[in-house]
Amino acid sequence: KRKWEDDDDDDEEQKAEESSDVDTSSDEDEDEQEDEETSSVCQETKREVKVEQDGEKEKKISDQEKVQKKPSEPAIFIPVDRSPEVQEARLKLPVLAEEQVIMEAVRENPSIVICGETGSGKTTQVPQFLYEAGYASDGRMIGITEPRRVAAVSMSHRVAKEMNLPTQVVSYQIRYEGNVTSDTKIKFMTDGVLLKEIQKDFLLQKYSAIIIDEAHERSVYTDILIGLLSRIVPLRNKKGMPMKLLIMSATLRVEDFTENQRLFRTPPPVIKVDARQFPVTIHFNKRTPLEDYTGEAFHKTCKIHRMLPPGGILVFLTGQAEVHSLCRRLRKAFPFRKGNTLKMRKPKPQREAGIGDEEDGDSDLDLGDDPADAEEKADGSIPLYVLPLYSLLAPEQQAKVFRPPPPGTRLCIIATNVAETSLTIPGIKYVVDCGRVKKRFYDKVTGVSSFKVTWTSQASANQRAGRAGRTEPGHCYRLYSSAVFGDFTLFSEAEITRRPVEDLVLQMKDLNIEKVVNFPFPTPPSTEALVAAEQLLVSLGALEEPPCTGRLKDMQRAKLSCPITPLGRAMASFPVAPRYAKMLALGKQQDCLPYVIAVVAAMTVREIFEDLDRPARSEDESSKLNQRRARLTQMRRLWAGQGASLLLGDLMIMLGAVGACEFAGCTPRFCENSGLRYKAMVEIRKLRGQLTNAVNAVCPEVGVFVDPKMTPPTEHQVVCLRQIVLAGLGDHLARRAQGEDLVDPKWKNAYKTPLMDEPVFIHPNSALFKTLPEFVVYQEIMETSKMYMRGVSAVEAEWVPQFLPQYCHFGSPLESPSPWFCSSTGTIRCHRSSTFFRVGWQLPAVEME
Ligand code: CDP
Ligand code: MG
Repeated sequence: KRKWEDDDDDDEEQKAEESSDVDTSSDEDEDEQEDEETSSVCQETKREVKVEQDGEKEKKISDQEKVQKKPSEPAIFIPVDRSPEVQEARLKLPVLAEEQVIMEAVRENPSIVICGETGSGKTTQVPQFLYEAGYASDGRMIGITEPRRVAAVSMSHRVAKEMNLPTQVVSYQIRYEGNVTSDTKIKFMTDGVLLKEIQKDFLLQKYSAIIIDEAHERSVYTDILIGLLSRIVPLRNKKGMPMKLLIMSATLRVEDFTENQRLFRTPPPVIKVDARQFPVTIHFNKRTPLEDYTGEAFHKTCKIHRMLPPGGILVFLTGQAEVHSLCRRLRKAFPFRKGNTLKMRKPKPQREAGIGDEEDGDSDLDLGDDPADAEEKADGSIPLYVLPLYSLLAPEQQAKVFRPPPPGTRLCIIATNVAETSLTIPGIKYVVDCGRVKKRFYDKVTGVSSFKVTWTSQASANQRAGRAGRTEPGHCYRLYSSAVFGDFTLFSEAEITRRPVEDLVLQMKDLNIEKVVNFPFPTPPSTEALVAAEQLLVSLGALEEPPCTGRLKDMQRAKLSCPITPLGRAMASFPVAPRYAKMLALGKQQDCLPYVIAVVAAMTVREIFEDLDRPARSEDESSKLNQRRARLTQMRRLWAGQGASLLLGDLMIMLGAVGACEFAGCTPRFCENSGLRYKAMVEIRKLRGQLTNAVNAVCPEVGVFVDPKMTPPTEHQVVCLRQIVLAGLGDHLARRAQGEDLVDPKWKNAYKTPLMDEPVFIHPNSALFKTLPEFVVYQEIMETSKMYMRGVSAVEAEWVPQFLPQYCHFGSPLESPSPWFCSSTGTIRCHRSSTFFRVGWQLPAVEME
């Protein structure tokens, strides 16, 4: 059993060290061992490594010198056949100037950090350096992780093209797809994919080097990967199969990685790639628009386009809807149609298609003139070639931003913060920054989530500005005042500190990291969040119940180190959230598995319906939207079914939508006509396939065959499904407000939940909006105009003690001090510490054994 703790408790640490395979103390032995094998070649070159550390600089270099003196790799050179154009372009990248320094550092150190401005060539070139140095030549691969799918796909294509190698060799793997083959040598993947691979092979033996890209983004998986790799790398070295870790960041703020003693006892050297950045002049707004920053962005873009010299414009907004709305307005103000460019050149036929078309299939909504936009028209400006860019955009559409705009037009990209660091768009001279970012926030106690647009950090704002100075001096227009900028936080918080962590905790327990609290996180999540995660996993049966005897301190400790159960292991192998994994684990009853898989896939993909609630911009659009809304309402009603199936509620609608869509062959047309998001439906299809394989792998005896075109569940199966859903979403139980609560009008039609004092509601779009069952479970609560439960199913009160005994207390009537209870057969009363206590659930008595 592997242990990770670096416990404050001395004797425990001792034990851990004795019993463990992986421990933090191993570095030193290794140092000594390798000292003996020092090679003089390395010593000569070592001095050239730029070690970017202040303060303890001297000491750290000498520490570093002790490590890894053996050049574990032969100095091979694998030639790459690049085209002269590619060769010329890459020679201009700042990272090329550092190739030698980087590769020497890689040879001499197990782990290194590379910092360089976005666009300096890290992502595209460093994998090539490793390739040329032979890291992919012994049948092993070079792996690169990206926090975003967009980047993994587009970068793999780019590198394949630069190296003149087929995509079987330079490949990518993202959650739902990939083109990896047995010939793959460079593999781009999302960080989640690598985490799954660690679960299968802890030593990552297929890889000779792992590059963690975009580490400055501090995505949850990136953080965990760095923690894990800080242990895997020394272990690999110890076993004589050396592996290299390269952490790449677009900012210089890397102390969380380098100065963190729990991560790396010997801080890895930091190699700084000097940015070939041209000066960017920052222009602040005098005033800061509080509401309509999209309108402000529109006017600023128009002004730049009319008055300033050529050069691409990049506008940062916060979300997809805003991006589309601004695209529409700008296209209308400076229309680009075939034939109205200034210098006409016959466009290539395949190029022609798509340009100036409504890129995103929303042309039908682009009707009527907005009077506010009219003033911006009617001058002699050249057309504006407007492109949207956000992470959910289809890859072909995304690829357009890298191509030069049609002659006689100005490129204008309206993007979310995906353009901040991971993608570099050529030819940008002007940046318009709204200063905001859209993030999902979670309430620490209740887990209620909401998307909020907030101010970004100073670091992000500076990244955005930097996009303007890639090819020549540029300008950044900030749509806020310098005073507002001064109030921004310096850096964005690491994601891991902002969201629930039950999925991570389960994954880590599955890796036998029992005391997650001692894991070397670059930034640890709060103890609160870890306790909440362990508690949820215990109630789901994924972790063993902690003993509730002993001293308080021991009990608290035990709470944070519950071992994983066999059920937990099965759950960890399903690539979905633990609550849904539990449903899958229960799904084999009554042949329900295909339905559970479909529902879980739909809940995981999220947002399967098109967002038709947006306001219309014209009368015509409004009537079209109304038609589509009416159609969607009709479809929802149809999919919700009748009789017994109605009670499965929104999950029945999901099931119906998935079934109907598959029946119709999952075509874009069907989706459009039924108000479904085509992209979501395709993802659901892929995820269903994945989940089916995962379930079959865990329990081969079940042998699920998922027919995409399911027949609707029988009444009996619907009941079973509702029970399975209850078992998975047990902590998301809500009860209709009653009794004296109803005196206050705010509780009309409202529900009570154990953790919140505020009323929550069933959304008007829900199948159960009119039914208002007494007990429901919900997928999540989103706060919009009210607290709305989404993904609601009705459950029966008597199922609660049967399926969620962990939340109930059973005893004899005499023992019961509280009035919650009345029964001749036994007591069901609220467990004092449980969530039921605060709302005073009155459960009808049920016969229990
Ligand atoms: O990772 P980093 O931000 O340091 O740079 P990169 O992504 O490797 O990009 C290096 C250069 O390649 C940039 O200047 C981009 O303009 C260019 N590039 C491109 O033209 N097309 C792509 N699909 C990717 C990169
Ligand atoms: Mg990059």
